[in-house]
Amino acid sequence: ACVILPDADSGTRWEPGDRPALESALTAAGYEADIQNAQSDTAKYATIADQQLSKGCGVMILVDYQGAGASVTEKAKAQGIPVIAYDRPIAGADYYVSFDNEVVGQMQGQMIVDGLAAAGKDITKASIIYSSGDPADGNAAMFLKGALSVLDAAGAKAAFTMEGTWDGAKAGTLFEQAFTAVKGKVDAVLAPNDNNAASIIAILDKNKLTVPVSGQDASVAGLQNVLLGKQTATVYKPFQLEVAAALAVIKEVLAGKTYATDKTLDDGTPYVHVDPVSVGADKVKDVVADGNAAAADICTAAVAAACEKYGVK
Ligand code: BGC
Repeated sequence: ACVILPDADSGTRWEPGDRPALESALTAAGYEADIQNAQSDTAKYATIADQQLSKGCGVMILVDYQGAGASVTEKAKAQGIPVIAYDRPIAGADYYVSFDNEVVGQMQGQMIVDGLAAAGKDITKASIIYSSGDPADGNAAMFLKGALSVLDAAGAKAAFTMEGTWDGAKAGTLFEQAFTAVKGKVDAVLAPNDNNAASIIAILDKNKLTVPVSGQDASVAGLQNVLLGKQTATVYKPFQLEVAAALAVIKEVLAGKTYATDKTLDDGTPYVHVDPVSVGADKVKDVVADGNAAAADICTAAVAAACEKYGVK
């Protein structure tokens, strides 16, 4: 099983979450797993793929990075190797295994709706900054579509729309610009994941503002911000469930069978989707109980009191 992960940004999920989950599940199922990371570099992505293909792959499990997965998929398919687009869509892949990404977005939109209601603010008059993920990642549009379906229905409007990115530092810079553009009047921020949210929250902190902010990934930083009341909630996507779904598909495909799916992407790729979970402060302990975050990492000095309050140990 040849696997390529997109980046090693410490704030995101791929190295701390997906790698160990893939490694243990693939090995337990009797596969040899070669898991590499493209380190945010499309050229490196292609080089890794060529090396893996020349050594030999029974199946490729690719997380796209800025479109680099498509040509690798073409090469693999030309050699008769099945390709699973893991988490992010890739043109030409045999299957797309991910969470239900529109539902992820709906949960994010709901965080803003609920957060503003809890703050006693009228959403139709609220100054909301909209941000999104890297447009080169097909997931970003699905997250945004889901979020907008909820926000539009609630009568929300964007006071400012930021350029999409998955680069946390860049999200911070873009938010600073947005903050200036709305003259510091921010009632809520639609953020696509915990990593971007953390950079945005750092700037809100600097300006002594606590407002509803959405997120995704149940990362340590995200869970801390949720416990501290600086992020309304996070979307928890257990790695093991996504890996198990991918493995089920791989087994069928390698046995020469087709895996039945009830969803397809717009380009017709069969879409195996897993259900995400919205996690507010009272549910952080569930993520810890699942083994997908450690209380020792979350409950640092600044977060200790909140951990105590919400039973995180
Ligand atoms: C994933 C998210 C992740 C983001 C940035 C998306 O494709 O679905 O879980 O936060 O990429 O890495």
